[in-house]
Amino acid sequence: MIRSILAVFLLMVSTPLWAEGTAGETLVLAKAGVNPANVASIKRGAKFFASNCMVCHTLVYMRYDKLAQEAGITYEKMPLNVKTWPFGVTPPDLSLEASVRGADWIYTYLHSFYQDAARPTGANNLLVANTAMPNIVAPYQGDQMLAEHVATDLFNQVEWYDLVKLTRQGTMSSEEFDATMSDLVNFLAYAAEPYRAEQERIGWWVLGFLAILFVLMYFLKREYWRDVKKHREE
Ligand code: HEC
Repeated sequence: MIRSILAVFLLMVSTPLWAEGTAGETLVLAKAGVNPANVASIKRGAKFFASNCMVCHTLVYMRYDKLAQEAGITYEKMPLNVKTWPFGVTPPDLSLEASVRGADWIYTYLHSFYQDAARPTGANNLLVANTAMPNIVAPYQGDQMLAEHVATDLFNQVEWYDLVKLTRQGTMSSEEFDATMSDLVNFLAYAAEPYRAEQERIGWWVLGFLAILFVLMYFLKREYWRDVKKHREE
């Protein structure tokens, strides 16, 4: 009984951490470095989304969000009425993507496109085999192709960069690209939970309030018991 509970628990905590790689190995998700308190990063990510992703993806829950609107993400500009998509797949709404897939998943997905002449889009992806999304980030990241198979460690765990190699450098260095994708994923995490930073802030106030209440209650208790003891002695 305990063992099966433990197994279920382990499964729950471990599944979001990795996904199947192409070679049947376990692809370790890269860390997106999401920080809900870094508003400047969220704003940069929103701008990047507006100019690179919104041609295809909607973000309907962001329609009343001030930060998103300031970055140019407005309901009117979202592709809501497009009926026919190239390659026949409707791009999903990404409002809750960070909650559904996790920030690290999106970050890794955006890093692991590679050239594949067999695909109609000319691109494939390590995380989502045969993805219908074209490689939108290629101008920035550059072109990648599948690398020669490398020996992996004991647990058959590989990082996305173990499986591909850069054949053409894009307009960004790899550090710049990482930082840009971090901003973008930070924004998508914000889109999924816009009140997260606020909730954390309120949480500290609540804890502070409880701490003060505890001290007051402690002295109140002492006061009561002083009387109780006095009565006993009488
Ligand atoms: C040319 C249209 C197009 C553009 C531009 C585009 N995407 Fe996509 N995207 C798609 C399509 C189509 C899919 C569905 C892929 C599939 O289901 O195989 C997709 C899927 C995704 C998914 C995975 C959804 C899932 O859970 O499987 C994520 C995350 C994503 N896109 C993020 C982005 C981001 C971030 C950008 C901007 C950098 C972007 N996309 C730009 C077309 C696009």
